[in-house]
Amino acid sequence: MNKLKVAVIVGSNRRESINRKLAEAMVRLAGNRIEARFIPIDDLPMYNLDLEADRPAAVRRFTEAVAANGAFLFVTPEFNRSIPAVLKNAIDWGSKPMDQNVWKGKVAAITGTSPGAIGTAVGQQHLRQILGVLGSLVMGGEAYISFKPDLIDGNGDITVAATRDFLQAYMDNFLSLAEKLNQPS
Ligand SMILES: Cc1cc2nc3c(=O)[nH]c(=O)nc-3n(C[C@H](O)[C@H](O)[C@H](O)COP(=O)(O)O)c2cc1C
Repeated sequence: MNKLKVAVIVGSNRRESINRKLAEAMVRLAGNRIEARFIPIDDLPMYNLDLEADRPAAVRRFTEAVAANGAFLFVTPEFNRSIPAVLKNAIDWGSKPMDQNVWKGKVAAITGTSPGAIGTAVGQQHLRQILGVLGSLVMGGEAYISFKPDLIDGNGDITVAATRDFLQAYMDNFLSLAEKLNQPS
């Protein structure tokens, strides 16, 4: 069986993003079970319907890169109890034109981390709602990660056993679901 291709979308454009670190650690938990592609979102212009007649090259690259995958892993910060604008912008580009919505019909898992106690819980609820509206098959469950400076070591491994085991189970569920739904009919 071909390996599942997973688009990893980090909702941060910050160089030292803790969410990117978490995303990389989660990809490591998947081992060689997947082909993971990190899809950049920070080069996209702000969505504007006027640009639809001739979509900018960065937008075309983005939608093609996303569509080439069988499942999505979103790892995002929470900004003011929602998702960062850079992530919403990328989702908006991918959702149009409606008949080419790249998010539809594929499994999406959501997680995220912040130094705060509730670890992006409210932002993730917004993301879950947006992706649901767009027809993604958003995996149930919750993974809110409160970030501490030593949570991920220099090798990119999660140092806290309980968090590592929890996220391993989350990834295993995600990949099992996505692999099932990606079976050729
Ligand atoms: C504009 C802005 C809004 C923020 N709002 C929240 C918030 O609502 N909840 C939260 O837990 N952290 C919030 N934070 C702090 C972020 O969790 C923190 O900056 C985190 O490092 C961002 O993730 P990143 O490192 O992956 O970019 C906010 C930060 C910024 C810059």
